[in-house]
Amino acid sequence: MIEIKHLKLVDTVSKVGSLTKAAEGLFLTQSALSHQLKELESYLGIEIFHRVNNQLHFTPAGKEFLEAGKDILQQLTILENRLQQLSKDQLKNYIHGYSEEETKRLNDQATSIAELLHWDSFWPHGSVVLEAGCGVGAQTGIISPKNPEVKFVCIDLSEKSLSKATQMVNELGLGNVELIRADVFEIPFADNHFDHVFVCFLLEHLSAPGKALLELKRVLKPGGTITVIEGDHGSTYFHPDSQYARKAIEAQVSLQKYNGGNANIGRELYPLLTAAGFTDVHTNPRIVYVNDSKPAMVDLFTRNTFTAMIKGVAEEVISKNFITKDDFDKGIRDLYRTTEGGGTFCYTFFKVMARKA
Ligand SMILES: C[S@@+](CC[C@H](N)C(=O)[O-])C[C@H]1O[C@@H](n2cnc3c(N)ncnc32)[C@H](O)[C@@H]1O
Repeated sequence: MIEIKHLKLVDTVSKVGSLTKAAEGLFLTQSALSHQLKELESYLGIEIFHRVNNQLHFTPAGKEFLEAGKDILQQLTILENRLQQLSKDQLKNYIHGYSEEETKRLNDQATSIAELLHWDSFWPHGSVVLEAGCGVGAQTGIISPKNPEVKFVCIDLSEKSLSKATQMVNELGLGNVELIRADVFEIPFADNHFDHVFVCFLLEHLSAPGKALLELKRVLKPGGTITVIEGDHGSTYFHPDSQYARKAIEAQVSLQKYNGGNANIGRELYPLLTAAGFTDVHTNPRIVYVNDSKPAMVDLFTRNTFTAMIKGVAEEVISKNFITKDDFDKGIRDLYRTTEGGGTFCYTFFKVMARKA
């Protein structure tokens, strides 16, 4: 059949005038290119070129092939550009962004709840675990040293986050981590490749979390486990209570929904994993409770993780009219008030473990 390589061959010869130069331009040997040309001509039963004194001249059929091929190659370039743009747009919609502040927030979040989320994050020696949506490696830096005999293959869409993760991996000397830029909807590994899968704070940002789970299941070996950790902003309550703080949180939930995600996904993990065909689905709510007897948690979790996350969407929620600036500012003020004397703050994460049959 006619292949793209044939279209490129003919197009390149038309531009550079000879097979020798075309071979150079296409990074092929001349004999490989001559073979492709013969293959094409014999398949079509026509000649693309007349050979006169070692020079190539297009036959009428060759000219027609050249013109049609140009259109197809142009369409392919348009398609490639569109797909690349789609991937960029996907990142543009990512609600938390990729700033230095966000890197600090993700690291503070992971540190403050490391014990709560990861006291039981162990995988069998010798296994290979896929971590999807690793970001700057905030969870990777906790789970990989706990499992030195396990290899972690960590993927994320963001080049910027991956370069920060690489820096962290080098600084901590983590020899069991490999970082790869990849989309969770199109994981560049064969079916049944990984022994286990780990996902943290990724599904909440996806417009099709069920589809991502099917792709994760595809690359998971039968009998392998998947561990998913997500939050649920609807599980937030605090003292002193404040309608403004609740409104500010609700505005963040609305923005995430507007961008295709779901900030209240924690409660839906059980149905999502079940619908994706996983078995033995065990849900484990993990409650963070902070009061002023735990000053480090007040700082790392209530201030630097949760309130910083709500503050981080200020511009967008106000400009999109999810809340007024005045109400939002009052909400942030009241969230800070929960970190002062007598204040308390509660939030629930959901850790779900399941198996591929
Ligand atoms: C909130 S961060 C969580 C990072 C890390 N798991 C943690 O807990 O700190 C979500 C990450 O998901 C990534 N992400 C979003 N969509 C993705 C996709 N389709 N495929 C892979 N990664 C994606 C983002 O780039 C971001 O780094």
